[in-house]
Amino acid sequence: MKKQFLTFLFAGNSLLAFSQASVTINGSEGKHIISRHIYGHFAEHLGRSIYDGFYVGESNTKIPNKAGVRLDVVDALKKLKIPNLRWPGGCFADTYHWKDGIGPKAKRPKIVNTWWGGVTEDNSFGTHDFLNMCELIGTEPYLAGNVGSGTVQELSDWVQYVNFEKNSPMSNLRQQNGRQAPWNVRYWGVANEAWGCGGNMKPDYYANLYRQYSTFMNTRVGNGKIFRIASGASDNDYNWTETLMKNIPGSLMEGIAMHHYSVLSWGEGKKSSATEFTDQEYFKTMQQALLMDELIEKHSAVMDKYDPEKKIALIVDEWGGWYNVEPGTNPGFLYQQNTMRDAVLAGATLNIFHKHCERVRMANLAQAINVLQSVILTKGDKIILTPTYHVLEMYNVHQDATMLPIDIKTADFSTSEGKLPAVSVSASRDKAGKVHISLVNIDLGKAQEISVDLKGISGTNVSGRILHSASVRDHNTFENLTKIKPAAFTGAKLSGDKLTVTLPPVSVVVLEI
Ligand code: AHR
Repeated sequence: MKKQFLTFLFAGNSLLAFSQASVTINGSEGKHIISRHIYGHFAEHLGRSIYDGFYVGESNTKIPNKAGVRLDVVDALKKLKIPNLRWPGGCFADTYHWKDGIGPKAKRPKIVNTWWGGVTEDNSFGTHDFLNMCELIGTEPYLAGNVGSGTVQELSDWVQYVNFEKNSPMSNLRQQNGRQAPWNVRYWGVANEAWGCGGNMKPDYYANLYRQYSTFMNTRVGNGKIFRIASGASDNDYNWTETLMKNIPGSLMEGIAMHHYSVLSWGEGKKSSATEFTDQEYFKTMQQALLMDELIEKHSAVMDKYDPEKKIALIVDEWGGWYNVEPGTNPGFLYQQNTMRDAVLAGATLNIFHKHCERVRMANLAQAINVLQSVILTKGDKIILTPTYHVLEMYNVHQDATMLPIDIKTADFSTSEGKLPAVSVSASRDKAGKVHISLVNIDLGKAQEISVDLKGISGTNVSGRILHSASVRDHNTFENLTKIKPAAFTGAKLSGDKLTVTLPPVSVVVLEI
Protein backbone atom coordinates (compact mmCIF):
# COMPACT_ATOMS: atom_id res chain seq x y z
CA MET A 1 0.00 0.00 0.00
CA LYS A 2 1.51 3.34 -1.05
CA LYS A 3 1.31 6.20 1.44
CA GLN A 4 0.60 9.59 -0.10
CA PHE A 5 1.41 12.82 1.68
CA LEU A 6 1.10 16.25 0.19
CA THR A 7 2.34 19.49 1.68
CA PHE A 8 2.58 22.99 0.28
CA LEU A 9 5.38 25.48 0.79
CA PHE A 10 5.90 29.02 -0.42
CA ALA A 11 8.98 29.22 -2.64
CA GLY A 12 9.52 32.83 -3.74
CA ASN A 13 6.10 34.02 -4.86
CA SER A 14 4.76 30.62 -5.81
CA LEU A 15 3.15 27.85 -3.89
CA LEU A 16 5.21 24.69 -4.37
CA ALA A 17 3.56 21.33 -3.78
CA PHE A 18 5.62 18.57 -2.14
CA SER A 19 5.00 14.86 -2.02
CA GLN A 20 6.79 12.56 0.35
CA ALA A 21 8.57 9.28 -0.17
CA SER A 22 10.50 6.94 2.06
CA VAL A 23 13.35 4.72 1.01
CA THR A 24 15.42 2.06 2.78
CA ILE A 25 18.79 1.17 1.30
CA ASN A 26 19.93 -2.26 2.49
CA GLY A 27 23.66 -1.59 2.54
CA SER A 28 24.67 -5.04 3.83
CA GLU A 29 22.62 -7.02 1.33
CA GLY A 30 24.43 -6.23 -1.92
CA LYS A 31 25.09 -9.45 -3.90
CA HIS A 32 25.11 -8.56 -7.59
CA ILE A 33 27.36 -6.36 -9.72
CA ILE A 34 25.91 -3.69 -12.01
CA SER A 35 27.84 -4.58 -15.16
CA ARG A 36 29.36 -1.51 -16.78
CA HIS A 37 28.04 -2.94 -20.05
CA ILE A 38 24.55 -1.77 -19.06
CA TYR A 39 25.92 1.65 -20.11
CA GLY A 40 26.53 0.57 -23.73
CA HIS A 41 25.79 2.58 -26.88
CA PHE A 42 24.75 1.97 -30.46
CA ALA A 43 26.03 3.36 -33.78
CA GLU A 44 24.14 2.34 -36.91
CA HIS A 45 24.67 3.35 -40.54
CA LEU A 46 21.56 5.46 -40.23
CA GLY A 47 21.13 9.14 -41.05
CA ARG A 48 23.93 11.23 -39.55
CA SER A 49 25.12 8.72 -36.99
CA ILE A 50 28.30 7.52 -38.71
CA TYR A 51 28.78 9.98 -41.60
CA ASP A 52 28.66 13.56 -40.25
CA GLY A 53 28.42 12.14 -36.71
CA PHE A 54 31.32 9.97 -35.62
CA TYR A 55 33.11 10.20 -38.95
CA VAL A 56 33.85 13.29 -41.01
CA GLY A 57 36.45 11.72 -43.31
CA GLU A 58 40.08 12.68 -43.54
CA SER A 59 39.98 15.17 -46.40
CA ASN A 60 37.88 18.31 -46.96
CA THR A 61 37.28 18.93 -43.27
CA LYS A 62 38.60 21.44 -40.77
CA ILE A 63 37.11 19.46 -37.90
CA PRO A 64 39.96 17.97 -35.85
CA ASN A 65 39.96 14.21 -36.41
CA LYS A 66 42.02 11.07 -36.30
CA ALA A 67 41.60 8.86 -39.36
CA GLY A 68 38.38 10.77 -40.03
CA VAL A 69 36.88 10.27 -36.54
CA ARG A 70 35.96 13.54 -34.78
CA LEU A 71 38.16 14.13 -31.78
CA ASP A 72 35.57 16.18 -29.85
CA VAL A 73 33.26 13.18 -30.04
CA VAL A 74 36.03 10.81 -28.91
CA ASP A 75 36.79 13.09 -25.99
CA ALA A 76 33.12 13.35 -24.92
CA LEU A 77 32.59 9.57 -25.15
CA LYS A 78 35.75 8.91 -23.14
CA LYS A 79 34.40 11.13 -20.36
CA LEU A 80 31.18 9.16 -20.49
CA LYS A 81 33.18 5.93 -20.01
CA ILE A 82 31.22 4.08 -22.65
CA PRO A 83 31.88 0.38 -22.11
CA ASN A 84 30.79 -0.94 -25.51
CA LEU A 85 29.52 0.25 -28.88
CA ARG A 86 27.18 -1.78 -31.10
CA TRP A 87 27.68 -1.55 -34.91
CA PRO A 88 26.73 -1.51 -37.85
CA GLY A 89 23.00 -1.87 -37.01
CA GLY A 90 20.10 -2.26 -36.33
CA CYS A 91 18.21 -3.05 -39.48
CA PHE A 92 21.27 -2.07 -41.52
CA ALA A 93 23.21 -5.03 -40.06
CA ASP A 94 21.16 -7.61 -41.94
CA THR A 95 21.91 -5.85 -45.25
CA TYR A 96 25.60 -5.34 -44.52
CA HIS A 97 28.30 -7.39 -46.21
CA TRP A 98 31.45 -6.67 -44.25
CA LYS A 99 33.82 -7.39 -47.14
CA ASP A 100 32.37 -4.27 -48.88
CA GLY A 101 34.01 -2.17 -46.15
CA ILE A 102 37.64 -3.36 -46.21
CA GLY A 103 40.60 -2.58 -48.46
CA PRO A 104 41.35 0.65 -50.37
CA LYS A 105 38.45 3.08 -49.88
CA ALA A 106 38.33 4.15 -53.53
CA LYS A 107 37.68 0.56 -54.57
CA ARG A 108 34.90 -0.16 -52.11
CA PRO A 109 31.49 -0.75 -53.70
CA LYS A 110 28.73 1.81 -53.28
CA ILE A 111 25.42 0.40 -52.12
CA VAL A 112 21.98 1.81 -51.29
CA ASN A 113 20.99 2.06 -47.64
CA THR A 114 17.55 0.60 -48.21
CA TRP A 115 16.30 0.89 -44.62
CA TRP A 116 17.37 4.43 -43.91
CA GLY A 117 16.52 7.11 -46.44
CA GLY A 118 17.65 5.21 -49.57
CA VAL A 119 20.92 7.13 -49.53
CA THR A 120 24.19 5.96 -51.07
CA GLU A 121 26.47 4.11 -48.68
CA ASP A 122 30.01 4.34 -50.01
CA ASN A 123 31.43 1.94 -47.42
CA SER A 124 34.18 4.41 -46.53
CA PHE A 125 33.58 3.56 -42.86
CA GLY A 126 34.12 -0.19 -42.49
CA THR A 127 35.48 -2.82 -40.13
CA HIS A 128 38.97 -1.31 -39.67
CA ASP A 129 37.54 2.19 -39.26
CA PHE A 130 35.06 1.05 -36.61
CA LEU A 131 37.37 -1.20 -34.63
CA ASN A 132 40.21 1.35 -34.64
CA MET A 133 37.71 3.99 -33.50
CA CYS A 134 36.70 1.76 -30.58
CA GLU A 135 40.35 1.54 -29.57
CA LEU A 136 40.58 5.34 -29.72
CA ILE A 137 37.50 5.77 -27.53
CA GLY A 138 38.58 2.96 -25.20
CA THR A 139 35.39 0.96 -25.64
CA GLU A 140 34.63 -2.67 -26.51
CA PRO A 141 33.12 -3.29 -29.94
CA TYR A 142 29.88 -5.24 -30.28
CA LEU A 143 29.53 -6.41 -33.90
CA ALA A 144 26.08 -7.28 -35.23
CA GLY A 145 26.29 -10.08 -37.82
CA ASN A 146 24.19 -10.40 -40.95
CA VAL A 147 21.87 -13.41 -40.89
CA GLY A 148 18.91 -11.98 -42.82
CA SER A 149 20.73 -11.58 -46.16
CA GLY A 150 24.15 -13.02 -45.33
CA THR A 151 25.60 -16.50 -45.16
CA VAL A 152 27.04 -18.75 -42.49
CA GLN A 153 30.41 -18.54 -44.26
CA GLU A 154 30.32 -14.71 -44.30
CA LEU A 155 29.79 -14.41 -40.56
CA SER A 156 32.28 -17.16 -39.81
CA ASP A 157 34.85 -15.30 -41.96
CA TRP A 158 34.20 -12.01 -40.17
CA VAL A 159 34.96 -13.62 -36.82
CA GLN A 160 38.14 -15.08 -38.28
CA TYR A 161 39.13 -11.74 -39.91
CA VAL A 162 38.97 -9.76 -36.67
CA ASN A 163 39.95 -12.42 -34.11
CA PHE A 164 42.48 -14.85 -35.61
CA GLU A 165 46.09 -14.03 -34.91
CA LYS A 166 47.69 -15.26 -38.13
CA ASN A 167 48.03 -17.96 -40.78
CA SER A 168 44.41 -18.24 -41.79
CA PRO A 169 42.93 -16.93 -45.04
CA MET A 170 41.03 -14.16 -43.26
CA SER A 171 43.78 -13.12 -40.84
CA ASN A 172 46.17 -12.96 -43.80
CA LEU A 173 43.71 -10.68 -45.59
CA ARG A 174 43.46 -8.46 -42.52
CA GLN A 175 47.22 -8.19 -42.37
CA GLN A 176 47.38 -7.31 -46.08
CA ASN A 177 44.92 -4.53 -45.26
CA GLY A 178 47.34 -3.09 -42.72
CA ARG A 179 46.33 -4.52 -39.36
CA GLN A 180 48.74 -7.02 -37.87
CA ALA A 181 47.27 -7.94 -34.47
CA PRO A 182 43.68 -9.14 -34.12
CA TRP A 183 41.22 -6.81 -32.43
CA ASN A 184 39.83 -9.65 -30.29
CA VAL A 185 36.15 -8.78 -30.50
CA ARG A 186 34.18 -10.48 -27.75
CA TYR A 187 30.58 -9.37 -28.38
CA TRP A 188 28.76 -10.67 -31.46
CA GLY A 189 25.12 -10.30 -32.38
CA VAL A 190 23.70 -13.07 -34.55
CA ALA A 191 21.12 -11.01 -36.52
CA ASN A 192 19.01 -8.05 -35.49
CA GLU A 193 15.23 -8.03 -35.06
CA ALA A 194 14.93 -11.34 -36.93
CA TRP A 195 11.15 -11.10 -36.35
CA GLY A 196 11.05 -7.87 -38.43
CA CYS A 197 13.63 -6.05 -40.56
CA GLY A 198 16.07 -8.93 -40.01
CA GLY A 199 13.98 -11.30 -42.14
CA ASN A 200 10.41 -11.46 -40.79
CA MET A 201 11.15 -14.88 -39.34
CA LYS A 202 9.11 -17.06 -37.00
CA PRO A 203 10.88 -17.78 -33.72
CA ASP A 204 11.40 -21.51 -34.30
CA TYR A 205 12.85 -20.87 -37.77
CA TYR A 206 15.23 -18.25 -36.37
CA ALA A 207 16.18 -20.56 -33.48
CA ASN A 208 17.33 -23.18 -36.01
CA LEU A 209 19.23 -20.60 -38.06
CA TYR A 210 20.83 -19.28 -34.87
CA ARG A 211 22.05 -22.77 -33.99
CA GLN A 212 23.62 -23.11 -37.42
CA TYR A 213 25.29 -19.66 -37.56
CA SER A 214 26.61 -19.76 -34.00
CA THR A 215 28.10 -23.23 -34.54
CA PHE A 216 30.49 -21.85 -37.15
CA MET A 217 31.56 -18.79 -35.17
CA ASN A 218 34.93 -19.66 -33.70
CA THR A 219 34.55 -19.09 -29.99
CA ARG A 220 38.16 -18.50 -29.01
CA VAL A 221 39.11 -14.84 -28.54
CA GLY A 222 42.50 -14.03 -27.00
CA ASN A 223 42.54 -16.13 -23.83
CA GLY A 224 38.78 -16.14 -23.50
CA LYS A 225 35.58 -16.98 -25.32
CA ILE A 226 33.30 -14.93 -27.52
CA PHE A 227 29.87 -13.81 -26.33
CA ARG A 228 27.11 -14.58 -28.86
CA ILE A 229 23.83 -12.69 -28.58
CA ALA A 230 20.66 -14.02 -30.17
CA SER A 231 18.30 -11.54 -31.79
CA GLY A 232 15.63 -11.15 -29.15
CA ALA A 233 12.04 -10.20 -28.64
CA SER A 234 10.29 -6.98 -29.34
CA ASP A 235 8.72 -5.61 -26.15
CA ASN A 236 6.31 -8.17 -24.67
CA ASP A 237 6.81 -11.01 -27.16
CA TYR A 238 7.48 -13.58 -24.42
CA ASN A 239 6.84 -16.42 -26.85
CA TRP A 240 9.94 -15.34 -28.83
CA THR A 241 12.11 -15.60 -25.71
CA GLU A 242 10.51 -18.90 -24.71
CA THR A 243 11.06 -20.47 -28.16
CA LEU A 244 14.72 -19.42 -28.23
CA MET A 245 15.40 -20.52 -24.67
CA LYS A 246 13.74 -23.88 -25.29
CA ASN A 247 15.49 -24.62 -28.58
CA ILE A 248 18.98 -23.14 -28.33
CA PRO A 249 21.44 -24.90 -26.01
CA GLY A 250 23.35 -22.73 -23.53
CA SER A 251 26.59 -23.93 -25.12
CA LEU A 252 25.74 -21.86 -28.23
CA MET A 253 24.29 -18.69 -26.70
CA GLU A 254 25.69 -16.36 -24.08
CA GLY A 255 23.02 -13.66 -24.31
CA ILE A 256 19.55 -13.07 -25.68
CA ALA A 257 18.42 -9.61 -26.71
CA MET A 258 15.23 -7.60 -26.17
CA HIS A 259 14.25 -4.23 -27.68
CA HIS A 260 11.90 -1.69 -26.16
CA TYR A 261 11.40 1.92 -27.27
CA SER A 262 9.32 4.53 -25.48
CA VAL A 263 7.08 5.58 -28.34
CA LEU A 264 3.48 6.77 -28.38
CA SER A 265 2.47 5.06 -31.62
CA TRP A 266 4.36 3.55 -34.56
CA GLY A 267 2.11 5.29 -37.11
CA GLU A 268 3.81 7.79 -39.46
CA GLY A 269 3.73 11.24 -37.80
CA LYS A 270 1.86 9.84 -34.78
CA LYS A 271 4.75 10.02 -32.37
CA SER A 272 5.20 13.06 -30.17
CA SER A 273 7.37 16.04 -31.01
CA ALA A 274 10.77 15.75 -29.33
CA THR A 275 10.46 19.23 -27.82
CA GLU A 276 6.87 20.46 -28.12
CA PHE A 277 5.04 17.59 -26.47
CA THR A 278 1.95 17.93 -24.30
CA ASP A 279 1.82 16.95 -20.63
CA GLN A 280 -0.28 13.94 -21.67
CA GLU A 281 2.38 12.87 -24.17
CA TYR A 282 5.01 13.26 -21.48
CA PHE A 283 2.99 11.00 -19.18
CA LYS A 284 2.55 8.35 -21.88
CA THR A 285 6.24 8.42 -22.75
CA MET A 286 7.13 7.86 -19.11
CA GLN A 287 4.55 5.09 -18.89
CA GLN A 288 6.32 3.36 -21.78
CA ALA A 289 9.71 3.91 -20.18
CA LEU A 290 8.65 2.45 -16.80
CA LEU A 291 7.13 -0.55 -18.58
CA MET A 292 10.74 -1.71 -18.97
CA ASP A 293 10.55 -3.03 -15.39
CA GLU A 294 7.63 -5.37 -16.19
CA LEU A 295 9.15 -6.44 -19.53
CA ILE A 296 12.44 -7.42 -17.91
CA GLU A 297 10.67 -9.18 -15.07
CA LYS A 298 8.55 -11.28 -17.44
CA HIS A 299 11.30 -12.10 -19.95
CA SER A 300 13.54 -13.04 -17.00
CA ALA A 301 10.83 -15.32 -15.59
CA VAL A 302 10.73 -17.17 -18.93
CA MET A 303 14.53 -17.40 -18.97
CA ASP A 304 14.55 -18.68 -15.35
CA LYS A 305 12.54 -21.72 -16.44
CA TYR A 306 15.34 -22.89 -18.73
CA ASP A 307 18.32 -21.22 -17.08
CA PRO A 308 17.72 -20.94 -13.32
CA GLU A 309 21.40 -20.20 -12.72
CA LYS A 310 21.15 -17.13 -14.93
CA LYS A 311 24.08 -18.09 -17.11
CA ILE A 312 22.50 -16.48 -20.17
CA ALA A 313 22.31 -12.70 -20.00
CA LEU A 314 19.33 -10.59 -21.06
CA ILE A 315 20.73 -7.85 -23.32
CA VAL A 316 18.51 -4.82 -23.89
CA ASP A 317 20.48 -3.77 -26.94
CA GLU A 318 18.03 -1.09 -28.11
CA TRP A 319 16.16 1.25 -25.78
CA GLY A 320 15.24 4.93 -25.55
CA GLY A 321 12.64 7.54 -26.51
CA TRP A 322 11.48 7.62 -30.15
CA TYR A 323 9.78 10.82 -31.35
CA ASN A 324 8.94 12.58 -34.62
CA VAL A 325 12.01 13.77 -36.51
CA GLU A 326 12.96 17.44 -36.23
CA PRO A 327 10.90 19.51 -38.70
CA GLY A 328 12.60 19.80 -42.09
CA THR A 329 14.91 16.81 -41.59
CA ASN A 330 14.87 13.56 -43.59
CA PRO A 331 12.22 11.25 -42.03
CA GLY A 332 14.52 8.30 -42.77
CA PHE A 333 17.30 9.79 -40.64
CA LEU A 334 15.50 9.70 -37.25
CA TYR A 335 17.14 12.91 -36.03
CA GLN A 336 15.46 14.22 -32.87
CA GLN A 337 16.21 16.77 -30.15
CA ASN A 338 16.66 15.75 -26.52
CA THR A 339 15.02 17.44 -23.52
CA MET A 340 14.67 17.02 -19.77
CA ARG A 341 12.02 14.39 -20.61
CA ASP A 342 14.86 12.27 -22.01
CA ALA A 343 16.97 12.92 -18.94
CA VAL A 344 14.39 11.50 -16.53
CA LEU A 345 13.59 8.69 -18.99
CA ALA A 346 17.28 7.71 -19.01
CA GLY A 347 17.68 7.98 -15.22
CA ALA A 348 14.56 5.92 -14.48
CA THR A 349 15.50 3.26 -17.07
CA LEU A 350 19.03 2.88 -15.74
CA ASN A 351 17.60 2.48 -12.23
CA ILE A 352 15.46 -0.37 -13.62
CA PHE A 353 18.48 -2.02 -15.26
CA HIS A 354 20.38 -1.82 -11.94
CA LYS A 355 17.51 -3.48 -10.11
CA HIS A 356 17.66 -6.41 -12.56
CA CYS A 357 21.45 -6.50 -12.89
CA GLU A 358 21.66 -10.18 -12.06
CA ARG A 359 20.02 -10.97 -15.42
CA VAL A 360 20.46 -7.74 -17.42
CA ARG A 361 24.17 -7.58 -18.07
CA MET A 362 24.28 -5.36 -21.13
CA ALA A 363 22.14 -2.63 -22.67
CA ASN A 364 22.57 -0.19 -25.54
CA LEU A 365 20.93 3.20 -25.73
CA ALA A 366 19.64 3.95 -29.23
CA GLN A 367 21.59 5.74 -30.53
CA ALA A 368 24.84 7.54 -29.65
CA ILE A 369 24.95 10.42 -32.17
CA ASN A 370 22.28 12.28 -34.19
CA VAL A 371 19.77 9.39 -34.12
CA LEU A 372 16.85 8.89 -31.67
CA GLN A 373 17.79 9.44 -27.98
CA SER A 374 21.33 10.60 -28.59
CA VAL A 375 23.97 11.65 -26.14
CA ILE A 376 25.61 13.87 -28.77
CA LEU A 377 24.19 16.02 -31.59
CA THR A 378 26.51 17.51 -34.20
CA LYS A 379 26.31 20.48 -36.57
CA GLY A 380 29.42 21.63 -38.45
CA ASP A 381 32.21 21.95 -35.93
CA LYS A 382 29.85 22.17 -32.94
CA ILE A 383 28.55 19.40 -30.72
CA ILE A 384 25.75 19.40 -28.17
CA LEU A 385 26.00 17.22 -25.10
CA THR A 386 22.34 16.40 -24.52
CA PRO A 387 20.54 16.09 -21.15
CA THR A 388 20.76 12.30 -21.70
CA TYR A 389 24.56 12.62 -21.98
CA HIS A 390 24.70 14.34 -18.61
CA VAL A 391 22.59 11.66 -16.91
CA LEU A 392 24.82 8.88 -18.25
CA GLU A 393 27.90 10.78 -17.15
CA MET A 394 26.51 11.40 -13.64
CA TYR A 395 25.44 7.75 -13.37
CA ASN A 396 28.71 6.17 -14.52
CA VAL A 397 29.80 5.89 -10.87
CA HIS A 398 27.52 2.83 -10.74
CA GLN A 399 29.53 0.96 -13.38
CA ASP A 400 30.81 -2.37 -11.98
CA ALA A 401 29.66 -1.43 -8.45
CA THR A 402 27.63 -3.72 -6.18
CA MET A 403 23.91 -3.03 -6.38
CA LEU A 404 22.34 -2.35 -2.96
CA PRO A 405 18.71 -3.54 -2.72
CA ILE A 406 16.10 -0.89 -2.02
CA ASP A 407 12.61 -0.69 -0.50
CA ILE A 408 10.65 2.33 -1.62
CA LYS A 409 7.32 3.96 -0.84
CA THR A 410 6.63 6.78 -3.25
CA ALA A 411 3.73 9.08 -3.99
CA ASP A 412 2.18 8.86 -7.44
CA PHE A 413 2.60 11.22 -10.34
CA SER A 414 -1.12 11.51 -11.12
CA THR A 415 -2.63 12.95 -14.28
CA SER A 416 -5.90 12.58 -16.18
CA GLU A 417 -4.11 9.79 -18.11
CA GLY A 418 -3.47 7.72 -14.99
CA LYS A 419 -0.73 7.47 -12.40
CA LEU A 420 2.87 6.35 -12.14
CA PRO A 421 5.32 6.10 -9.24
CA ALA A 422 6.84 9.58 -9.01
CA VAL A 423 10.22 8.62 -7.61
CA SER A 424 12.74 6.02 -8.66
CA VAL A 425 15.92 5.28 -6.72
CA SER A 426 18.97 3.06 -7.11
CA ALA A 427 22.09 2.61 -4.98
CA SER A 428 25.43 0.88 -5.28
CA ARG A 429 28.72 0.53 -3.43
CA ASP A 430 31.89 0.89 -5.52
CA LYS A 431 35.20 -0.90 -5.00
CA ALA A 432 36.53 2.00 -2.88
CA GLY A 433 33.54 1.63 -0.51
CA LYS A 434 31.73 4.79 -1.65
CA VAL A 435 27.96 4.55 -1.85
CA HIS A 436 26.20 6.28 -4.74
CA ILE A 437 22.48 6.91 -4.85
CA SER A 438 20.67 7.97 -8.02
CA LEU A 439 17.22 9.51 -7.66
CA VAL A 440 14.70 10.58 -10.28
CA ASN A 441 11.51 12.60 -9.86
CA ILE A 442 9.26 12.33 -12.93
CA ASP A 443 6.43 14.45 -11.49
CA LEU A 444 5.79 17.55 -13.61
CA GLY A 445 4.57 19.74 -10.78
CA LYS A 446 5.53 18.37 -7.39
CA ALA A 447 8.83 18.32 -5.62
CA GLN A 448 9.57 15.18 -3.57
CA GLU A 449 10.79 15.12 -0.01
CA ILE A 450 12.47 11.76 0.45
CA SER A 451 13.61 10.30 3.74
CA VAL A 452 16.23 7.62 3.27
CA ASP A 453 17.12 5.03 5.87
CA LEU A 454 20.75 4.01 5.31
CA LYS A 455 20.92 0.49 6.73
CA GLY A 456 24.47 -0.82 7.03
CA ILE A 457 25.95 2.30 5.44
CA SER A 458 28.25 4.52 7.45
CA GLY A 459 29.34 7.89 6.22
CA THR A 460 29.71 11.40 7.51
CA ASN A 461 29.46 13.40 4.36
CA VAL A 462 27.04 13.64 1.45
CA SER A 463 27.67 15.48 -1.79
CA GLY A 464 25.99 15.33 -5.16
CA ARG A 465 24.98 16.78 -8.49
CA ILE A 466 21.60 17.57 -10.01
CA LEU A 467 20.26 17.86 -13.55
CA HIS A 468 17.23 20.11 -13.64
CA SER A 469 15.73 22.93 -15.68
CA ALA A 470 12.69 25.19 -15.39
CA SER A 471 10.71 23.27 -18.02
CA VAL A 472 10.59 19.59 -18.98
CA ARG A 473 10.81 20.78 -22.60
CA ASP A 474 14.11 22.60 -22.08
CA HIS A 475 17.04 21.39 -24.15
CA ASN A 476 20.50 22.40 -25.29
CA THR A 477 20.76 24.03 -28.71
CA PHE A 478 23.63 24.97 -31.02
CA GLU A 479 23.00 28.56 -29.92
CA ASN A 480 22.94 27.69 -26.22
CA LEU A 481 25.07 24.59 -25.68
CA THR A 482 24.94 24.54 -21.90
CA LYS A 483 21.42 25.54 -20.92
CA ILE A 484 21.18 22.14 -19.24
CA LYS A 485 24.22 20.85 -17.42
CA PRO A 486 24.81 19.24 -14.02
CA ALA A 487 25.08 21.56 -11.01
CA ALA A 488 26.15 21.02 -7.40
CA PHE A 489 23.23 19.71 -5.36
CA THR A 490 22.51 21.19 -1.96
CA GLY A 491 19.17 19.51 -1.25
CA ALA A 492 20.53 16.52 0.72
CA LYS A 493 21.13 16.42 4.49
CA LEU A 494 22.81 13.55 6.30
CA SER A 495 22.33 12.93 10.00
CA GLY A 496 23.66 9.60 11.28
CA ASP A 497 22.01 6.92 9.19
CA LYS A 498 19.17 9.19 8.03
CA LEU A 499 19.33 11.11 4.81
CA THR A 500 16.74 13.60 3.59
CA VAL A 501 16.64 14.68 -0.02
CA THR A 502 14.42 17.23 -1.72
CA LEU A 503 14.04 16.63 -5.44
CA PRO A 504 12.53 19.37 -7.64
CA PRO A 505 9.98 18.34 -10.28
CA VAL A 506 11.53 16.59 -13.31
CA SER A 507 15.02 16.18 -11.94
CA VAL A 508 17.82 13.65 -11.69
CA VAL A 509 20.23 13.61 -8.74
CA VAL A 510 23.26 11.45 -7.98
CA LEU A 511 24.62 11.49 -4.43
CA GLU A 512 27.87 10.17 -2.97
CA ILE A 513 28.21 9.08 0.64
O1 AHR B 1 17.36 2.17 -33.86
C1 AHR B 1 16.63 2.28 -35.03
C2 AHR B 1 16.05 0.95 -35.50
O2 AHR B 1 15.12 0.49 -34.57
C3 AHR B 1 17.03 -0.19 -35.61
O3 AHR B 1 17.70 -0.19 -36.82
C4 AHR B 1 16.14 -1.39 -35.50
O4 AHR B 1 16.81 -2.50 -34.94
C5 AHR B 1 15.00 -0.91 -34.63
O5 AHR B 1 13.77 -1.25 -35.15
